[in-house]
Amino acid sequence: MAEKLSFEAPRGMRDFYPEDMVWRNMVFDAFRAAGDAAGFVPYDACVVENYDLLARKAGEEVGEQIYHFLDKSERRLALRAEMTPTLARMVAQRQKELHFPLKWTAIAQCFRYERMTKGRKREHYQWNMDIIGETSVLAEAEVIGAAVDALRRMDLTTAAFKVHASSRRFLGELLEKSRIAADKHAQVFLALDKRGKMPDAEIAAMLHDGGLSDDETAAAFRIMETKSYDGCPELVELFHLAEIAGFADALMFDIGVIRGLSYYTGVVFECFDTAGEFRAIFGGGRYDNLLTTIGGEPTCAVGLGFGDVVVTELLKARLGDAAVNARRGVAVGFMFPEQRDAALALAARLRADGERVDLALHSQKPKKFFSAAGASGAAKAVFLGPDDVEKGVARIKDMETREETDLCLRPER
Ligand code: HAM
Repeated sequence: MAEKLSFEAPRGMRDFYPEDMVWRNMVFDAFRAAGDAAGFVPYDACVVENYDLLARKAGEEVGEQIYHFLDKSERRLALRAEMTPTLARMVAQRQKELHFPLKWTAIAQCFRYERMTKGRKREHYQWNMDIIGETSVLAEAEVIGAAVDALRRMDLTTAAFKVHASSRRFLGELLEKSRIAADKHAQVFLALDKRGKMPDAEIAAMLHDGGLSDDETAAAFRIMETKSYDGCPELVELFHLAEIAGFADALMFDIGVIRGLSYYTGVVFECFDTAGEFRAIFGGGRYDNLLTTIGGEPTCAVGLGFGDVVVTELLKARLGDAAVNARRGVAVGFMFPEQRDAALALAARLRADGERVDLALHSQKPKKFFSAAGASGAAKAVFLGPDDVEKGVARIKDMETREETDLCLRPER
């Protein structure tokens, strides 16, 4: 006998049953609408990438999380862990033809071999919004504003989330003032990004490994107490723009936001739920050197990645099942095989009128039909018996109020 296979998806991978798709569509609809409202254009790319494009400098967590494999021709390939390197590759490939600044958006399926925690899976969909070729902080304001807009479209208010923003350039300046040399900053950023996620003693050890003396390490920790962004022109500008755009209430300064990816060069930001229950809702920043890193022409860029996992958890906790149980469409059923054609004709007519019609596929007793129609979430139901077809009039029932009205089966067109 054949060995029974497990019915479960591989650990961390996700199946979407119809009830899950209701949530996913709600989230994706908000992503698409917010991207469109902000004038971003959609693009897409292959999920399988060349491993070399994704391979990372030592210390970056994503580097260790990449799913990679050899294909039959011994090519080293990988499932993308994020969209940004792929976006950089696509832009570099057409750098001469494209008109900058680009405002591109995608909902990309990404894979990371993560340690599974609340809100982190090994597969997720990540809404990406990137502006390529613009130095102005208005680019940061536009991507953050669009992400806040998406959250509002999901009925989440700024009472539920905050965007924490800082600047790596600013942090670099503060480090330099404490005489921590620029060539050590990359390691310092990676270490300090772990604050709150691992004990300070381990972070101090990472800083020592990065070449910092005891004094420098103490100075680095002191800098993390900075409460004001005065002296950081790009943050002053960003908060000013947020005021005008109407999302200042969603924005706060947080020197502790550094981000775990090494390509960021300026403003960095991360959005968290105010209850502090989940990991980041979205994150991003300015990355002005990524294109040159992969061999393209120097091009500045800003962008963000907004995953579907955490926000869906937040929505479920907040909205409950009522959000997915909204009734819609018409169920059409029939008693005997003789009424099948009339039922199909009615379904065709209602569909032509733009209705969503769920047509029963075989004859059945009325009780069975109405109970199935109730369970399927139809807003209305019509059941055809021999008399209805003969008279040319059926009863259409509102599944909420139980009220019935006449429905003519042979209307004059
Ligand atoms: P990231 O911070 O690594 O940035 O990921 C961005 C967002 O993707 C996170 O805030 C979270 O919503 C979601 N996410 C990441 N990993 C997982 C996971 N394992 N499970 C569920 N959700 C996850 C980036 O990926 C950058 N490439 C974003 C970016 C675009 N920067 C510039 N442009």
